This record gives sequence, C-alpha cells and structure tokens, in this order.
Amino acid sequence: MSKSAAQNLVPNSCVLGLGSGSSVARFAKALGQRAKKESLRVAVVPSSMQSWLLAMENDLTLVNDSGHCPPSIDIAVDGADEISIATRSMIKGGGGALLKEKIIFAAAKKCYVLADESKYVQKLERSVPVEVTQFSALSVEHKIRGQLGAEPNMRKLEKGYPFFTESGNVILDCQFGRSISDPAGLEVRLKSIAGVVEVGIFNNPVEMFYKANHDGTFETL
Ligand code: A5P
Repeated sequence: MSKSAAQNLVPNSCVLGLGSGSSVARFAKALGQRAKKESLRVAVVPSSMQSWLLAMENDLTLVNDSGHCPPSIDIAVDGADEISIATRSMIKGGGGALLKEKIIFAAAKKCYVLADESKYVQKLERSVPVEVTQFSALSVEHKIRGQLGAEPNMRKLEKGYPFFTESGNVILDCQFGRSISDPAGLEVRLKSIAGVVEVGIFNNPVEMFYKANHDGTFETL
C-alpha cells in the first residue's frame, strides 16, 4: 500500500504534510526511495518529531527550518486510529500528534489517509483523545464528564507519569461508552470547552482513503 501510495499520490513537485504513525513510516520509506530515483522536489511539513525523524532518515527535504506550518500545503498524507465508513470521520491522536496533524489537514488542499482494514468501522466508538492545557486538565475533565456523559482518563506513561504532548499539553482519552452518531457536532462541543486545545475527531474532507487488506490487496474509498 505505501509503495503504491507514494507512487500515486505524490506529484513530482509539491509541499507535503507528513502525518505520524506506522502507516506513515512505511509511506515515508517508499517515498524516500522514489524521491531519490526520480529526483522529486518534495518539501515536507512534519506533524511530529517522529515524522521529522522519518523525513531525515529517508532523505526528504523539510519545507523550512523554522518548524512553522506554511499557510498552504499541496497534499497531506496521514494514518488514522479509527475511520467511520458511514460519516468518513476519523479518530486520531493515538500517538499524541493530533494538534499538528489537524493543523496540517486544515492547510492541505488534498488529504489522503492510509490505514489497514482493522481501522474501518460503521460508526466511531473508540475513545476520543482530547488535548488540553495542563492548567485546565481537571476543569475540562469535570465538564466532559458532567456535560457530555463521557469518562475522561488522563493519558499516562509507565509508573503513572503523565504523557505530555510536543506542545506541553496533556491528553484526556474520553470514552463515550456508545458509538458516536454525530462526530461533527461532538467535535464542536468538545472544542467549545475552555482549555481544550484540540480534539482527535477529524471531520476534514478526505480525498481518498487507502485501505490495506490483510490478504495483501488494497482498496480505495
Ligand atoms: C498520531 O497521533 C495518530 O493520529 C496516528 O496518525 C494514528 O495513531 C495512526 O497510526 P498507525 O498508522 O500507527 O496506526
């Protein structure tokens, strides 16, 4: 899948938003090989330190050294934790990179998603990562529980240390205990809580979903 994606999606010259995760890692490797062979002029906007490292390891050029997202990106390629076939919405942020991933998707003219078949469901139902400032973690937790009836859990590392995002925030993984019937509405409601920085529900239009099947074939949706 990643080989075909690198072949089919990326034009000879473009600004590319690079998501995070294992599917993106395979894609970056295939793209690096193609870039070398075909002397592509691809400038990468990384969504995390992981994807910055992927760009370095695969000899892909960065769009700039400032670490700032340009206002316009030609294409963005990313993975997902769960994808609703019914609404085409996604849950992302399993790796904690949701903030920059969403900024990149918003700046991109075309977004593509690479994910294996296990990620596709009718309706979203896994827990939703919500990035919040450290200062607001307890008040946001209280509001999500009281107003939205979900169970938020602060993401932690081994031994109970909190997980900090690259922007120094924390993540509340929010379990709704039921499938999410209105992902767009839920994204807005979560986003309106003071202290919420970003929500791991993505309702951005996606040009194409690349679905890798376990038998080695892949489909586009
Ligand atoms: C990173 O925070 C996530 O949004 C990833 O895009 C997502 O977890 C997909 O990762 P995999 O391709 O490793 O499943």
